[in-house]
Amino acid sequence: MTAAAHASLRAGRTHYSPLLGEPALREALAAMLTATAGTPASAADILITQGGTAGLSASILGIVNPGDKVVVPDPTYSLYGDLVAMAGGTVVPVPLAPDLHWDLDRLADALDGAKLFVFCNPVNPTGIVHSREAFNGSVGTFVQDAALVAVESCDEDVARMRAAYEKRGELMRGELATIPGLTLSAPEGAFYQFPRYDIDLPSVEVVAALRTHGVAVRPGSEFGACGEGHLRLSYAASPQSITEGVRRLAAGLSALR
Ligand SMILES: Cc1ncc(COP(=O)(O)O)c(C=O)c1O
Repeated sequence: MTAAAHASLRAGRTHYSPLLGEPALREALAAMLTATAGTPASAADILITQGGTAGLSASILGIVNPGDKVVVPDPTYSLYGDLVAMAGGTVVPVPLAPDLHWDLDRLADALDGAKLFVFCNPVNPTGIVHSREAFNGSVGTFVQDAALVAVESCDEDVARMRAAYEKRGELMRGELATIPGLTLSAPEGAFYQFPRYDIDLPSVEVVAALRTHGVAVRPGSEFGACGEGHLRLSYAASPQSITEGVRRLAAGLSALR
């Protein structure tokens, strides 16, 4: 990807790209989605944005008007609620089932009168994967040339990293299992553990205490009221960092008891 970005810059592809994105990248992404998402997609369905935050901001600010109801799962990535608030909308959080999958009855009730439903797969912070999904996704030409290389020729790297994340997740799970009072989650994608702890303290306080033990994690409450009592741990880290991080986590939790 770096070589493709470099070659593209050298070739002078530094001008504005078409507003919807480079046609070759949109075609390649449509083919990839058609092959992987189980729903046919064409280039006309694809819009290239500068990452997830820019895409979500454009979509939510474009769709949501003041007073509109927007349904989001609870817990979920905190950006969605912040963007809805910026647009003047009202966030309707839908508590997930205890296994962190959808509670479809509650979801159906909440969707009544809603303008928008924000659905992300796999889920940050829980690592849960929902079984069917579709997603759409303006950006510097050279970045898109590099992205095209990623889509067309990085399958092996993706497979390698997927296997590495699986191993890291197992490593983290095994190490966390030795800590008393933690109920582990069962991530199906992404790279997060979302364990529940049994200490009677808000997650913001637990996170602050853990920081003094040299480990930084995210408080579950950051992802919604139903995230309270949980911690979000990322295993996008080296095996050594995972082992050492969990060791510090264990020491920090034990000092809170
Ligand atoms: C669920 C989710 N949505 C959106 C984003 C933001 O994406 P980006 O970093 O591409 O702006 C993230 C980043 O971690 C995320 O986990």
